[in-house]
Amino acid sequence: MASQSKSRWADDEGDQALSAQRKQEKEAKKRAKAEKQRKLEATGTAAPLQPSQVNGSSAHDISLNGLTEPPLKRRRLSPSPPPDAPRKLLRFFASSWGPCRHVDNFEKLNHIEEGSYGWVSRARENATGEIVALKKLKMEPVNDGFPVTGLREIQTLMACRHEGIVGLREVVMGDAMSDAELNLTIKASVFLVMDFLEHDLKTLQEDMQEPFLPSETKTLLLQLTTAVQYLHDNWILHRDLKTSNLLMNNRGQMKVADFGMARYFGDPPPKMTQLVVTLWYRGPELLLGAEKYGREVDIWSVGCIFGELLTKEPLLQGKNEVDQLSKVLQLQKMHSCSLIRIVPKIFELLGLPTEASWPGYKRLPNARSLRLPSDPRMHGSVLGGKFPYLTTAGSSLLTSLLALNPASRPTASEILAHPYFKEDPKPKSTAMFPTFPSKAGQEKRRRAASPSAPKRGEAPKIGEGAIDFGGIFAGREEEEKGAGFALKLI
Ligand SMILES: Nc1ncnc2c1ncn2[C@@H]1O[C@H](COP(=O)(O)OP(=O)(O)OP(=O)(O)O)[C@@H](O)[C@H]1O
Ligand SMILES: [Mg+2]
Repeated sequence: MASQSKSRWADDEGDQALSAQRKQEKEAKKRAKAEKQRKLEATGTAAPLQPSQVNGSSAHDISLNGLTEPPLKRRRLSPSPPPDAPRKLLRFFASSWGPCRHVDNFEKLNHIEEGSYGWVSRARENATGEIVALKKLKMEPVNDGFPVTGLREIQTLMACRHEGIVGLREVVMGDAMSDAELNLTIKASVFLVMDFLEHDLKTLQEDMQEPFLPSETKTLLLQLTTAVQYLHDNWILHRDLKTSNLLMNNRGQMKVADFGMARYFGDPPPKMTQLVVTLWYRGPELLLGAEKYGREVDIWSVGCIFGELLTKEPLLQGKNEVDQLSKVLQLQKMHSCSLIRIVPKIFELLGLPTEASWPGYKRLPNARSLRLPSDPRMHGSVLGGKFPYLTTAGSSLLTSLLALNPASRPTASEILAHPYFKEDPKPKSTAMFPTFPSKAGQEKRRRAASPSAPKRGEAPKIGEGAIDFGGIFAGREEEEKGAGFALKLI
Protein backbone atom coordinates (compact mmCIF):
# COMPACT_ATOMS: atom_id res chain seq x y z
CA MET A 1 0.00 0.00 0.00
CA ALA A 2 1.31 3.40 -1.03
CA SER A 3 0.32 5.12 2.12
CA GLN A 4 1.98 2.53 4.29
CA SER A 5 4.95 4.00 6.17
CA LYS A 6 8.26 2.18 6.07
CA SER A 7 9.42 0.24 9.11
CA ARG A 8 12.17 1.98 10.95
CA TRP A 9 14.18 -1.23 10.70
CA ALA A 10 13.95 -1.35 6.90
CA ASP A 11 17.17 -0.95 4.85
CA ASP A 12 18.07 2.60 3.89
CA GLU A 13 19.72 3.50 0.57
CA GLY A 14 23.26 2.98 1.96
CA ASP A 15 22.40 -0.58 3.02
CA GLN A 16 20.95 -1.38 -0.37
CA ALA A 17 24.07 -0.16 -2.19
CA LEU A 18 26.27 -2.28 0.10
CA SER A 19 24.29 -5.45 -0.51
CA ALA A 20 24.32 -4.84 -4.31
CA GLN A 21 28.10 -4.52 -4.15
CA ARG A 22 28.43 -7.80 -2.20
CA LYS A 23 26.27 -9.54 -4.75
CA GLN A 24 28.47 -8.33 -7.59
CA GLU A 25 31.60 -9.53 -5.80
CA LYS A 26 30.08 -12.94 -5.26
CA GLU A 27 29.16 -13.30 -8.89
CA ALA A 28 32.64 -12.23 -9.98
CA LYS A 29 34.12 -14.92 -7.71
CA LYS A 30 31.82 -17.52 -9.18
CA ARG A 31 32.80 -16.55 -12.68
CA ALA A 32 36.50 -16.76 -11.83
CA LYS A 33 35.97 -20.21 -10.34
CA ALA A 34 34.08 -21.40 -13.40
CA GLU A 35 36.85 -20.06 -15.61
CA LYS A 36 39.47 -21.92 -13.57
CA GLN A 37 37.51 -25.16 -13.83
CA ARG A 38 37.13 -24.72 -17.59
CA LYS A 39 40.89 -24.25 -17.95
CA LEU A 40 41.64 -27.33 -15.88
CA GLU A 41 39.24 -29.38 -17.99
CA ALA A 42 40.93 -28.10 -21.14
CA THR A 43 44.32 -29.29 -19.83
CA GLY A 44 42.72 -32.65 -18.68
CA THR A 45 43.69 -32.32 -15.01
CA ALA A 46 40.22 -31.78 -13.57
CA ALA A 47 39.37 -34.03 -10.61
CA PRO A 48 37.02 -36.84 -11.58
CA LEU A 49 33.48 -36.59 -10.32
CA GLN A 50 32.77 -38.28 -6.99
CA PRO A 51 30.20 -41.14 -7.00
CA SER A 52 27.80 -39.07 -4.96
CA GLN A 53 28.18 -36.29 -7.51
CA VAL A 54 27.40 -38.70 -10.29
CA ASN A 55 24.13 -39.55 -8.59
CA GLY A 56 23.67 -35.82 -8.31
CA SER A 57 21.71 -36.06 -5.15
CA SER A 58 23.13 -33.24 -3.13
CA ALA A 59 22.66 -29.53 -3.53
CA HIS A 60 26.27 -29.14 -2.41
CA ASP A 61 27.55 -31.42 -5.15
CA ILE A 62 26.35 -29.56 -8.17
CA SER A 63 26.24 -25.84 -8.21
CA LEU A 64 23.42 -23.96 -9.75
CA ASN A 65 25.28 -23.25 -13.01
CA GLY A 66 25.83 -26.99 -13.48
CA LEU A 67 29.48 -27.01 -12.50
CA THR A 68 30.81 -29.36 -9.86
CA GLU A 69 32.13 -28.09 -6.58
CA PRO A 70 34.87 -29.88 -4.65
CA PRO A 71 33.50 -32.62 -2.37
CA LEU A 72 32.68 -31.55 1.15
CA LYS A 73 35.46 -32.16 3.60
CA ARG A 74 34.61 -34.43 6.56
CA ARG A 75 35.88 -33.64 9.98
CA ARG A 76 37.93 -36.48 11.45
CA LEU A 77 36.25 -37.51 14.65
CA SER A 78 38.84 -39.84 16.11
CA PRO A 79 42.58 -40.07 15.57
CA SER A 80 43.54 -42.74 13.10
CA PRO A 81 45.33 -45.74 14.69
CA PRO A 82 49.03 -46.19 14.03
CA PRO A 83 49.52 -48.27 10.87
CA ASP A 84 50.96 -51.33 12.65
CA ALA A 85 48.31 -51.44 15.45
CA PRO A 86 46.35 -54.71 15.60
CA ARG A 87 42.91 -54.40 14.07
CA LYS A 88 40.00 -54.56 16.47
CA LEU A 89 36.88 -56.40 15.38
CA LEU A 90 33.52 -55.06 16.38
CA ARG A 91 31.69 -57.61 18.50
CA PHE A 92 27.95 -57.74 18.90
CA PHE A 93 26.03 -59.84 21.39
CA ALA A 94 24.07 -62.56 19.68
CA SER A 95 22.28 -65.39 21.39
CA SER A 96 24.44 -68.38 20.71
CA TRP A 97 23.11 -71.67 19.56
CA GLY A 98 25.36 -74.60 19.72
CA PRO A 99 25.88 -77.96 21.29
CA CYS A 100 25.79 -78.05 25.10
CA ARG A 101 28.99 -78.84 26.90
CA HIS A 102 29.41 -82.25 28.48
CA VAL A 103 28.89 -82.78 32.19
CA ASP A 104 32.45 -84.18 32.31
CA ASN A 105 33.58 -80.57 32.49
CA PHE A 106 32.48 -80.75 36.12
CA GLU A 107 33.64 -82.91 38.98
CA LYS A 108 30.88 -83.95 41.36
CA LEU A 109 31.78 -83.20 44.97
CA ASN A 110 28.73 -84.26 46.97
CA HIS A 111 25.05 -84.96 46.66
CA ILE A 112 22.80 -82.24 48.13
CA GLU A 113 19.19 -83.22 47.71
CA GLU A 114 16.76 -85.24 45.70
CA GLY A 115 13.65 -83.24 44.87
CA SER A 116 10.55 -84.25 42.97
CA TYR A 117 12.02 -83.23 39.63
CA GLY A 118 15.74 -83.61 40.00
CA TRP A 119 18.86 -84.56 41.90
CA VAL A 120 20.99 -81.68 43.04
CA SER A 121 24.73 -81.98 43.71
CA ARG A 122 27.61 -79.69 44.48
CA ALA A 123 30.30 -79.77 41.80
CA ARG A 124 33.49 -78.07 40.69
CA GLU A 125 34.12 -76.83 37.16
CA ASN A 126 37.41 -78.39 36.04
CA ALA A 127 38.62 -75.42 33.98
CA THR A 128 37.94 -72.67 36.51
CA GLY A 129 37.76 -74.46 39.86
CA GLU A 130 34.46 -72.67 40.54
CA ILE A 131 31.91 -74.38 42.75
CA VAL A 132 28.46 -74.80 41.21
CA ALA A 133 25.23 -76.67 41.82
CA LEU A 134 24.27 -79.29 39.25
CA LYS A 135 20.62 -80.25 38.97
CA LYS A 136 20.12 -83.43 37.00
CA LEU A 137 16.61 -83.42 35.61
CA LYS A 138 14.48 -86.49 36.14
CA MET A 139 13.66 -87.65 32.64
CA GLU A 140 10.37 -89.37 33.20
CA PRO A 141 9.06 -91.36 30.28
CA VAL A 142 6.68 -88.79 28.90
CA ASN A 143 5.08 -88.58 25.48
CA ASP A 144 6.82 -85.43 24.38
CA GLY A 145 10.24 -86.76 25.30
CA PHE A 146 11.39 -84.01 27.61
CA PRO A 147 9.80 -83.20 30.96
CA VAL A 148 7.75 -80.04 30.73
CA THR A 149 8.91 -79.01 34.20
CA GLY A 150 12.51 -79.08 32.94
CA LEU A 151 11.63 -77.06 29.86
CA ARG A 152 9.79 -74.48 31.93
CA GLU A 153 12.64 -74.28 34.40
CA ILE A 154 15.21 -73.69 31.65
CA GLN A 155 13.00 -71.24 29.76
CA THR A 156 12.14 -69.06 32.73
CA LEU A 157 15.50 -69.21 34.52
CA MET A 158 17.34 -68.31 31.30
CA ALA A 159 15.14 -65.24 31.00
CA CYS A 160 15.74 -64.11 34.58
CA ARG A 161 18.72 -62.04 35.54
CA HIS A 162 18.17 -60.74 39.04
CA GLU A 163 20.13 -60.74 42.27
CA GLY A 164 17.17 -62.41 44.01
CA ILE A 165 16.95 -65.31 41.55
CA VAL A 166 19.41 -68.18 41.37
CA GLY A 167 21.72 -67.79 38.38
CA LEU A 168 21.46 -70.46 35.69
CA ARG A 169 24.91 -70.58 34.10
CA GLU A 170 24.35 -73.16 31.38
CA VAL A 171 22.77 -76.48 30.55
CA VAL A 172 25.08 -79.48 30.08
CA MET A 173 24.49 -83.00 28.85
CA GLY A 174 25.46 -86.46 29.95
CA ASP A 175 25.76 -89.39 27.54
CA ALA A 176 22.87 -91.29 26.09
CA MET A 177 23.33 -95.00 26.52
CA SER A 178 21.93 -97.92 24.66
CA ASP A 179 21.94 -101.59 25.50
CA ALA A 180 21.37 -103.67 22.39
CA GLU A 181 20.84 -106.87 24.39
CA LEU A 182 18.12 -105.37 26.52
CA ASN A 183 16.90 -103.33 23.58
CA LEU A 184 17.03 -100.33 25.86
CA THR A 185 18.00 -96.75 25.17
CA ILE A 186 18.60 -94.41 28.04
CA LYS A 187 18.12 -90.79 27.08
CA ALA A 188 20.99 -88.40 27.59
CA SER A 189 20.72 -86.76 30.97
CA VAL A 190 20.32 -83.01 31.18
CA PHE A 191 21.89 -80.94 33.95
CA LEU A 192 21.30 -77.35 34.95
CA VAL A 193 24.48 -75.64 36.09
CA MET A 194 23.57 -73.05 38.71
CA ASP A 195 25.34 -70.80 41.16
CA PHE A 196 25.86 -72.74 44.36
CA LEU A 197 24.33 -71.37 47.56
CA GLU A 198 25.16 -72.82 50.94
CA HIS A 199 21.65 -73.17 52.37
CA ASP A 200 17.98 -73.46 51.71
CA LEU A 201 15.74 -71.73 54.23
CA LYS A 202 13.86 -74.87 55.18
CA THR A 203 16.94 -76.88 56.13
CA LEU A 204 18.48 -73.86 57.78
CA GLN A 205 15.45 -73.22 59.96
CA GLU A 206 15.29 -76.85 60.98
CA ASP A 207 18.78 -76.53 62.43
CA MET A 208 18.26 -73.17 64.09
CA GLN A 209 17.44 -73.04 67.79
CA GLU A 210 15.40 -69.86 67.47
CA PRO A 211 13.59 -68.27 64.55
CA PHE A 212 15.24 -65.46 62.64
CA LEU A 213 15.22 -62.12 64.46
CA PRO A 214 12.52 -59.63 63.40
CA SER A 215 15.16 -57.50 61.63
CA GLU A 216 16.40 -60.59 59.74
CA THR A 217 12.86 -61.68 58.91
CA LYS A 218 12.25 -58.26 57.38
CA THR A 219 15.37 -58.49 55.23
CA LEU A 220 14.47 -61.98 54.01
CA LEU A 221 10.90 -60.95 53.26
CA LEU A 222 12.11 -57.87 51.40
CA GLN A 223 14.52 -59.95 49.32
CA LEU A 224 11.83 -62.51 48.52
CA THR A 225 9.31 -59.83 47.58
CA THR A 226 11.80 -57.99 45.39
CA ALA A 227 12.44 -61.20 43.46
CA VAL A 228 8.70 -61.88 43.17
CA GLN A 229 8.15 -58.33 41.96
CA TYR A 230 10.76 -58.88 39.25
CA LEU A 231 9.09 -62.14 38.18
CA HIS A 232 5.61 -60.63 38.12
CA ASP A 233 6.81 -57.55 36.25
CA ASN A 234 8.18 -59.97 33.66
CA TRP A 235 4.97 -61.98 33.43
CA ILE A 236 6.31 -65.03 35.20
CA LEU A 237 4.44 -66.88 37.95
CA HIS A 238 6.68 -69.03 40.14
CA ARG A 239 3.86 -71.24 41.46
CA ASP A 240 6.01 -73.14 43.95
CA LEU A 241 7.30 -70.63 46.47
CA LYS A 242 8.23 -72.37 49.72
CA THR A 243 11.14 -72.28 52.11
CA SER A 244 12.93 -75.26 50.54
CA ASN A 245 13.00 -73.35 47.26
CA LEU A 246 14.58 -70.26 48.83
CA LEU A 247 18.35 -70.51 48.85
CA MET A 248 20.65 -68.44 51.00
CA ASN A 249 24.39 -67.88 50.95
CA ASN A 250 26.66 -67.05 53.85
CA ARG A 251 26.47 -63.37 52.99
CA GLY A 252 22.81 -63.09 53.96
CA GLN A 253 21.65 -63.05 50.32
CA MET A 254 18.54 -65.00 49.48
CA LYS A 255 17.66 -66.27 46.00
CA VAL A 256 14.55 -67.90 44.65
CA ALA A 257 15.16 -71.30 43.01
CA ASP A 258 13.25 -74.26 41.56
CA PHE A 259 11.40 -72.91 38.54
CA GLY A 260 9.92 -76.30 37.59
CA MET A 261 6.39 -75.00 38.12
CA ALA A 262 7.02 -71.52 36.76
CA ARG A 263 5.31 -70.30 33.62
CA TYR A 264 4.54 -67.17 31.67
CA PHE A 265 1.07 -65.76 32.06
CA GLY A 266 -0.93 -62.96 30.52
CA ASP A 267 -3.66 -60.46 31.17
CA PRO A 268 -6.35 -61.71 31.35
CA PRO A 269 -4.77 -64.84 32.81
CA PRO A 270 -5.05 -67.94 30.63
CA LYS A 271 -6.61 -71.18 31.84
CA MET A 272 -3.95 -72.94 33.88
CA THR A 273 -3.77 -76.03 36.02
CA GLN A 274 -4.94 -75.56 39.59
CA LEU A 275 -2.57 -78.29 40.67
CA VAL A 276 0.40 -76.12 41.41
CA VAL A 277 2.17 -74.96 44.55
CA THR A 278 3.04 -77.41 47.30
CA LEU A 279 -0.01 -78.02 49.48
CA TRP A 280 1.03 -76.05 52.56
CA TYR A 281 1.70 -72.94 50.46
CA ARG A 282 -1.26 -73.27 48.10
CA GLY A 283 -3.84 -70.49 48.09
CA PRO A 284 -7.54 -71.13 48.78
CA GLU A 285 -8.57 -70.25 45.22
CA LEU A 286 -6.36 -73.07 43.91
CA LEU A 287 -7.70 -75.46 46.52
CA LEU A 288 -11.22 -74.57 45.49
CA GLY A 289 -10.33 -75.38 41.88
CA ALA A 290 -9.85 -71.99 40.21
CA GLU A 291 -8.43 -72.40 36.72
CA LYS A 292 -7.89 -68.72 36.17
CA TYR A 293 -5.58 -67.18 38.66
CA GLY A 294 -2.67 -64.81 38.69
CA ARG A 295 0.10 -63.24 40.71
CA GLU A 296 -1.99 -63.61 43.87
CA VAL A 297 -1.11 -67.31 44.17
CA ASP A 298 2.54 -66.38 44.67
CA ILE A 299 1.55 -63.65 47.14
CA TRP A 300 -0.35 -66.20 49.24
CA SER A 301 2.81 -68.34 49.36
CA VAL A 302 4.80 -65.26 50.41
CA GLY A 303 2.32 -64.89 53.30
CA CYS A 304 2.84 -68.53 54.32
CA ILE A 305 6.62 -68.04 54.17
CA PHE A 306 6.36 -64.85 56.26
CA GLY A 307 4.43 -66.78 58.93
CA GLU A 308 7.02 -69.57 58.79
CA LEU A 309 9.94 -67.16 59.19
CA LEU A 310 8.31 -65.75 62.32
CA THR A 311 7.89 -69.07 64.10
CA LYS A 312 10.24 -71.46 62.24
CA GLU A 313 7.22 -73.69 61.67
CA PRO A 314 5.20 -73.99 58.45
CA LEU A 315 2.03 -72.00 59.00
CA LEU A 316 -0.60 -74.19 57.37
CA GLN A 317 0.51 -77.76 57.56
CA GLY A 318 -2.84 -79.14 56.55
CA LYS A 319 -2.79 -81.55 59.50
CA ASN A 320 -5.66 -81.16 61.82
CA GLU A 321 -7.96 -83.04 64.09
CA VAL A 322 -11.17 -84.13 62.58
CA ASP A 323 -13.33 -82.83 65.43
CA GLN A 324 -11.82 -79.40 64.81
CA LEU A 325 -12.87 -79.73 61.23
CA SER A 326 -16.44 -80.61 62.03
CA LYS A 327 -16.62 -77.62 64.36
CA VAL A 328 -15.44 -75.25 61.70
CA LEU A 329 -17.21 -76.43 58.62
CA GLN A 330 -18.85 -79.36 57.07
CA LEU A 331 -17.57 -80.65 53.82
CA GLN A 332 -20.02 -82.54 51.80
CA LYS A 333 -19.26 -85.39 49.49
CA MET A 334 -15.60 -85.81 48.96
CA HIS A 335 -13.34 -88.52 47.74
CA SER A 336 -9.88 -87.23 48.19
CA CYS A 337 -9.11 -86.02 51.65
CA SER A 338 -5.62 -84.83 50.88
CA LEU A 339 -6.85 -81.80 48.98
CA ILE A 340 -9.51 -80.69 51.32
CA ARG A 341 -7.65 -81.24 54.56
CA ILE A 342 -5.92 -77.94 54.24
CA VAL A 343 -9.10 -75.99 53.44
CA PRO A 344 -10.50 -76.27 56.97
CA LYS A 345 -7.06 -75.46 58.30
CA ILE A 346 -7.09 -72.24 56.32
CA PHE A 347 -10.64 -71.35 57.29
CA GLU A 348 -9.93 -72.16 60.89
CA LEU A 349 -7.11 -69.65 60.95
CA LEU A 350 -8.52 -66.97 58.72
CA GLY A 351 -12.28 -67.31 59.17
CA LEU A 352 -14.87 -68.42 56.71
CA PRO A 353 -15.35 -66.64 53.43
CA THR A 354 -18.58 -64.80 52.76
CA GLU A 355 -20.06 -63.46 49.56
CA ALA A 356 -19.17 -59.99 50.84
CA SER A 357 -15.54 -60.75 51.69
CA TRP A 358 -14.90 -62.95 48.64
CA PRO A 359 -17.51 -62.32 45.96
CA GLY A 360 -18.04 -65.28 43.67
CA TYR A 361 -16.09 -67.86 45.67
CA LYS A 362 -19.14 -70.13 45.70
CA ARG A 363 -18.87 -70.52 41.95
CA LEU A 364 -15.41 -72.11 42.17
CA PRO A 365 -15.60 -75.82 41.23
CA ASN A 366 -14.79 -77.28 44.64
CA ALA A 367 -16.72 -74.68 46.63
CA ARG A 368 -20.04 -76.08 45.46
CA SER A 369 -19.51 -79.02 47.76
CA LEU A 370 -18.75 -76.94 50.85
CA ARG A 371 -21.46 -76.47 53.42
CA LEU A 372 -20.27 -73.76 55.73
CA PRO A 373 -21.78 -73.00 59.12
CA SER A 374 -23.70 -69.74 59.27
CA ASP A 375 -22.39 -68.80 62.72
CA PRO A 376 -21.00 -65.24 62.31
CA ARG A 377 -18.36 -65.95 64.97
CA MET A 378 -16.68 -68.21 62.46
CA HIS A 379 -16.00 -65.35 60.10
CA GLY A 380 -13.24 -63.68 62.05
CA SER A 381 -9.53 -64.34 61.60
CA VAL A 382 -7.54 -65.63 64.58
CA LEU A 383 -4.25 -65.07 62.80
CA GLY A 384 -3.19 -62.25 65.14
CA GLY A 385 -3.41 -64.55 68.17
CA LYS A 386 -0.89 -66.90 66.61
CA PHE A 387 1.75 -64.17 66.43
CA PRO A 388 1.50 -62.27 69.72
CA TYR A 389 4.92 -60.64 69.24
CA LEU A 390 4.16 -59.28 65.81
CA THR A 391 3.56 -55.53 65.69
CA THR A 392 0.30 -54.09 64.44
CA ALA A 393 1.93 -53.21 61.12
CA GLY A 394 3.38 -56.71 60.77
CA SER A 395 0.06 -58.25 61.61
CA SER A 396 -1.77 -56.11 59.08
CA LEU A 397 0.76 -57.11 56.39
CA LEU A 398 0.44 -60.82 57.18
CA THR A 399 -3.36 -60.62 57.25
CA SER A 400 -3.41 -58.89 53.87
CA LEU A 401 -1.07 -61.46 52.29
CA LEU A 402 -3.31 -64.24 53.54
CA ALA A 403 -6.59 -62.66 52.41
CA LEU A 404 -8.94 -65.45 51.31
CA ASN A 405 -10.09 -63.27 48.44
CA PRO A 406 -7.16 -63.11 45.99
CA ALA A 407 -8.25 -59.64 44.87
CA SER A 408 -7.65 -58.31 48.39
CA ARG A 409 -4.02 -59.39 48.50
CA PRO A 410 -1.39 -56.70 47.91
CA THR A 411 0.91 -56.68 44.89
CA ALA A 412 4.64 -57.20 45.39
CA SER A 413 5.21 -53.43 45.00
CA GLU A 414 2.59 -52.69 47.65
CA ILE A 415 4.27 -55.13 50.04
CA LEU A 416 7.62 -53.40 49.55
CA ALA A 417 6.04 -50.05 50.48
CA HIS A 418 4.39 -51.42 53.64
CA PRO A 419 5.03 -49.50 56.90
CA TYR A 420 6.15 -52.78 58.55
CA PHE A 421 9.54 -52.40 56.88
CA LYS A 422 9.93 -48.80 58.03
CA GLU A 423 9.28 -49.30 61.71
CA ASP A 424 11.88 -50.47 64.23
CA PRO A 425 13.65 -52.81 64.24
CA LYS A 426 14.76 -51.90 60.72
CA PRO A 427 15.69 -54.62 58.22
CA LYS A 428 19.17 -55.94 58.98
CA SER A 429 21.88 -55.31 56.43
CA THR A 430 22.80 -58.55 54.64
CA ALA A 431 26.44 -57.96 55.56
CA MET A 432 25.46 -58.28 59.23
CA PHE A 433 23.71 -61.63 58.80
CA PRO A 434 25.08 -64.49 60.84
CA THR A 435 26.73 -67.34 58.97
CA PHE A 436 25.77 -70.96 59.41
CA PRO A 437 27.57 -74.21 58.67
CA SER A 438 26.51 -75.41 55.24
CA LYS A 439 25.03 -78.84 55.01
CA ALA A 440 24.96 -78.64 51.25
CA GLY A 441 28.66 -77.94 51.31
CA GLN A 442 29.60 -81.10 53.15
CA GLU A 443 27.07 -83.82 53.45
CA LYS A 444 23.91 -85.43 52.20
CA ARG A 445 20.90 -83.91 53.81
CA ARG A 446 18.13 -85.45 55.78
CA ARG A 447 14.76 -84.99 54.17
CA ALA A 448 12.33 -83.79 56.82
CA ALA A 449 8.70 -84.68 56.42
CA SER A 450 6.94 -82.10 54.34
CA PRO A 451 4.74 -82.48 51.31
CA SER A 452 6.36 -82.45 47.92
CA ALA A 453 5.46 -80.40 44.90
CA PRO A 454 2.40 -81.79 43.09
CA LYS A 455 2.99 -84.87 40.94
CA ARG A 456 1.42 -86.17 37.81
CA GLY A 457 -1.88 -87.99 38.10
CA GLU A 458 -5.51 -87.17 38.41
CA ALA A 459 -6.38 -83.91 40.17
CA PRO A 460 -8.50 -84.51 43.23
CA LYS A 461 -12.10 -83.43 43.09
CA ILE A 462 -14.71 -83.27 45.76
CA GLY A 463 -16.89 -86.02 44.40
CA GLU A 464 -20.03 -87.89 45.20
CA GLY A 465 -20.68 -89.91 48.34
CA ALA A 466 -21.08 -89.42 52.05
CA ILE A 467 -18.16 -88.18 54.11
CA ASP A 468 -16.56 -90.27 56.74
CA PHE A 469 -15.03 -87.57 58.91
CA GLY A 470 -13.10 -90.18 60.83
CA GLY A 471 -10.98 -90.78 57.76
CA ILE A 472 -10.37 -87.21 56.81
CA PHE A 473 -7.01 -86.89 58.41
CA ALA A 474 -5.92 -90.47 58.00
CA GLY A 475 -3.60 -91.52 55.22
CA ARG A 476 -1.39 -88.48 55.14
CA GLU A 477 1.43 -90.69 53.98
CA GLU A 478 -0.37 -91.06 50.68
CA GLU A 479 -0.48 -87.34 50.23
CA GLU A 480 3.22 -87.07 50.82
CA LYS A 481 3.82 -89.47 47.99
CA GLY A 482 1.61 -87.21 45.94
CA ALA A 483 -1.13 -89.77 45.35
CA GLY A 484 -4.14 -88.47 43.55
CA PHE A 485 -2.46 -85.41 42.13
CA ALA A 486 -2.44 -84.56 38.49
CA LEU A 487 0.13 -82.30 37.00
CA LYS A 488 -1.21 -81.31 33.67
CA LEU A 489 0.65 -78.12 33.08
CA ILE A 490 -1.31 -75.83 30.84
N1 LIG B 1 21.79 -73.69 43.35
C1 LIG B 1 21.71 -74.45 44.45
N2 LIG B 1 22.66 -74.37 45.40
C2 LIG B 1 22.59 -75.13 46.50
N3 LIG B 1 21.59 -75.98 46.76
C3 LIG B 1 20.60 -76.10 45.86
C4 LIG B 1 20.61 -75.34 44.65
N4 LIG B 1 19.50 -75.64 43.95
C5 LIG B 1 18.83 -76.53 44.68
N5 LIG B 1 19.47 -76.83 45.83
C6 LIG B 1 19.03 -77.77 46.89
O1 LIG B 1 18.36 -78.84 46.28
C7 LIG B 1 17.00 -78.88 46.74
C8 LIG B 1 16.11 -79.34 45.61
O2 LIG B 1 16.26 -78.46 44.51
P1 LIG B 1 15.02 -78.06 43.63
O3 LIG B 1 13.98 -77.49 44.50
O4 LIG B 1 15.49 -77.22 42.51
O5 LIG B 1 14.59 -79.48 43.09
P2 LIG B 1 13.15 -80.08 42.81
O6 LIG B 1 13.34 -81.46 42.35
O7 LIG B 1 12.44 -79.20 41.86
O8 LIG B 1 12.51 -80.02 44.25
P3 LIG B 1 10.98 -80.07 44.72
O9 LIG B 1 10.89 -81.26 45.56
O10 LIG B 1 10.82 -78.79 45.50
O11 LIG B 1 10.13 -80.08 43.54
C9 LIG B 1 16.69 -77.49 47.25
O12 LIG B 1 15.71 -77.52 48.27
C10 LIG B 1 18.05 -77.09 47.82
O13 LIG B 1 18.24 -77.63 49.11
MG1 LIG C 1 12.23 -77.53 45.23
